[in-house]
Order: sequence, then structure tokens, then C-alpha cells
Amino acid sequence: MRRRDFLKTGSAALAGAAVSSRAGAARGDAGPPAAAVRQTAPAALAPRFGDGRDWWFQKRFGLFVHWGLYAINGFHEQEQWRRRVPRREYAQLAAQWNPVAFDPDEWLDLMRDAGMSYVCVTAKHHDGFCLWDTKLTPFNTMNTPFGRDILRMLADACHRRGVPLCVYYSIADWNHPNYPNRGRHHELPPQAQDQPDFSRYLEFVRGQVRELCTDYGAISGFWWDMNVEQHADPSMNAMIRRLQPSAVINDRGFDPGDFGTPERDVDAAGEDLGPFSKRTEACQSVGVESWGYRRDESYYTDRHLLRSIDTYRARDANYLLNVGPKPDGTIPAVPAGILRRIGRWCAAVGESFDGTHPASDLTANRSVLLTRKGHTLYVHLHRDPVSDSVKLKPLARAPKRATLLNTGRPVAWALDMAPSDHAEQAAYLRLTGLPANEFANSVMVVRLDFDGDPSSGARAGSG
Ligand code: GLC
Repeated sequence: MRRRDFLKTGSAALAGAAVSSRAGAARGDAGPPAAAVRQTAPAALAPRFGDGRDWWFQKRFGLFVHWGLYAINGFHEQEQWRRRVPRREYAQLAAQWNPVAFDPDEWLDLMRDAGMSYVCVTAKHHDGFCLWDTKLTPFNTMNTPFGRDILRMLADACHRRGVPLCVYYSIADWNHPNYPNRGRHHELPPQAQDQPDFSRYLEFVRGQVRELCTDYGAISGFWWDMNVEQHADPSMNAMIRRLQPSAVINDRGFDPGDFGTPERDVDAAGEDLGPFSKRTEACQSVGVESWGYRRDESYYTDRHLLRSIDTYRARDANYLLNVGPKPDGTIPAVPAGILRRIGRWCAAVGESFDGTHPASDLTANRSVLLTRKGHTLYVHLHRDPVSDSVKLKPLARAPKRATLLNTGRPVAWALDMAPSDHAEQAAYLRLTGLPANEFANSVMVVRLDFDGDPSSGARAGSG
């Protein structure tokens, strides 16, 4: 969304607030009591950038990829630490790094099929192994049997297709002799041969960031991780911004950056239904245990992932869903299947996110999320639907059309007094006869088209 569009959307939402309270007062008998109608303006959306970084508000679902030497044993991306593998022994995995089947176009095809439009790859994870031709440490993909620059291959494919490429970079480093490994969380115990010196290490980081931001064309995002030192240094992001002005930067680096990164916490996110006031990109892995390839992984259900994606996206957040490619460079069949199924869901319901804004404040029903575009409302059943109907009180306007986006089929509705609303003697809109059992493993989204502001006006009836 361009900045100007965003401003328009914002003011339309504010105008809606005034209309709905006025309508409630004017309606008299059929109108809900004033207290049930939204009295305040809807919460403001997170601020847009107003510059090249706004690509991130247009492409809101991305592929996260954790890939490195840890894929070889297929245990966990933090194998070295979690299995207490001595550094020298772990580093020997580089002699086996030969992902001959790596084809970045296959990753990007799968990404597209999943309904995603940007990619973020682990250029360097905590183990310190670099997926690019860095001149600053020999511990990189060039010094392996593969001997090719993986980031270059991926960047070229992304640029050919116009796919924004973001890089993940771990500040904690289990290989570099200057990183002060002191046995804190996500750190090795002190290593005998090391010369811990955080300021020298920061110079190394700065040099690597410069390589990443100058040698690979457009880099659209920088995804820091694991600043165990909690060291602050705004000059690091300032350098990224100078070299790559359109790059969005997350909040795990040396200053608060551009956006927050809630991780694997769909339940916490579900408590509040309003839009995020801070720019947010949730991240989640398809695997329960690991972000990197895990031979014996358990995978989340489609239902869990779809609910998580819907919960964030309907609240104006981005979503980064992760897979861990195998040591040969291919994405395993189970995660690939999950992504393709998610892609089919996105193709069916995607319009409920694209160009819409959060509108859950229009209903008192806390078990659905609403998004809105003009006179169209989208009802997201992002929680376990407990019945085949959805009450949308205090909404009390008849829709022109109600459609289940998942199937394209009409949805029945009623605008009358339900027995449970007898105290108010008021008619409200409800959806009925939804195929809740058939879609128990998915998230249903119903599109409601109105011929005016959905939060004003009342007309009894059914459809
Ligand atoms: C956690 C994991 C780390 C992973 C990251 C992705 O911090 O510890 O391995 O890279 O999540 O967000």
C-alpha cells in the first residue's frame, strides 16, 4: 500500500466510527443499545515508512529459510550447542557440505505456490558458517566441496523474479575467536583458544554487513538475531540504511529497528484483536522442534499454522513462515506439502488481507476477526468455531451478498432477534449454516458485501 492509500484508508476507518455511533442512536427500536456500539475510533495502524521500505506493507507473507551445516546431521539448527559438540568437530561438517541439488528457482517456485512473496535466508546462523563468499572468515561455503556462493545464487534468482531478499544474521557466533562466548544462553562455554574482544568482533560484523549490503544487489531486509550482549550501537543499522535504503531491519540487532518479531506465539497474539500499533512480523517454523532441517521433525497441523497466519495477518502484521532445506538443498516433502496447502488457502482467502484494514472493533464477538475494504467486510473464523453460526452483533445491516471464500459458495445469514438477545429486543446480523465440520482443519473466511457502510443502517431479513 502506498503512503497516500494508507492515509485514505485510515481516514475512512475514522469516519466509520462516527457513522456507527450516530446510526445506533437514530435506529431506535431495531438499534443496539449505544453501549454495544463502538464509541471510540478504531486503533491506529502501525506507521508506514513513506519510503522504499514500504514494499514490506505490500508483500506481507514471506518464506524464512534456516539452512547451514546443521542440515547435514538433521538434528537442530543449534546442534553444536544443544548437543555440546566440540567446535573443531562441528567445523568438520564443512567437508561434507555439498548441496548439489540446490536450485534457488525451486525454492522460489515453492514460495510462490505458498502464496508468499519475499524470502529471508540465514546468511550466518549461530554456528558462524557463512552462506556467502565472505572475505572475513574462511568458515564459509566457498571452502567446502560445493565451493559456490549460495547467497549469490539465491540473490540472482530473486532479482530475476523481483522477489525481495532479506538476510538473517546471528550476532552470537560459535566459531569466531573474538566473539565472547561466555556460556550465556545461546553461547558456548569459554573456548581455550579464543581471544574474546567484543569491539574487534563488532568490526568483523560491520565488515560482513558491508559485504552483504554491497555485493549482492538489492537487499530488502536485515534480520538480526541473538544479541546476547544486548549491546546497543545505532551506527550498525545506520550503515545498512545508507547502503540499502529500502531494507527493513528487525528489532533483534543493535537498536529497535523497524519492526517487532514475535515468535511461535499464536496464543498470546490471540488475546488482543486490534491491529498491532507497532510494525510486526511474526515468525514461525513448520517444524515443532527446529528451524533447521530435522530428520525426525514433528510438524504443526495445517489448522495451527493457518490460524496463526490468519491471526497475525488480519491484524495488520507480516508473517514469516520457516522451512529447513535438506543437506542436498531441496525442501523436504512434508514441509513442501504444508506450504502448498497453505498456498491454496491463501489463493482462496487472500483478498481478505490484501488492501484491507483491521476492523474487529465493529463486532463484540471476540471469537472472530474482521478486516474491511470499503463496504466489504471479511469475517475470519481464526479460532475453533464451536458451532455452524457466527453472531456479528452489534452489526445490524443486511449484506447484499455473503460468500465463503474457501469455497466460493454463498453463506446463509439472518438479521433478526436471536433468543439469546431478548433482553435487548434487537435484531443483529448472524451467519448460519457454515460448514464448520468440513473446515475444522482450516480457517474459514466469509466475505460480506454491503451496499453501504456495514456498521450503519438496519433492515430485518435473511438471505
Ligand atoms: C530462535 C532460535 C533460533 C532461530 C530463531 C528464528 O531464536 O533460537 O535458532 O534462528 O528463533 O527466529
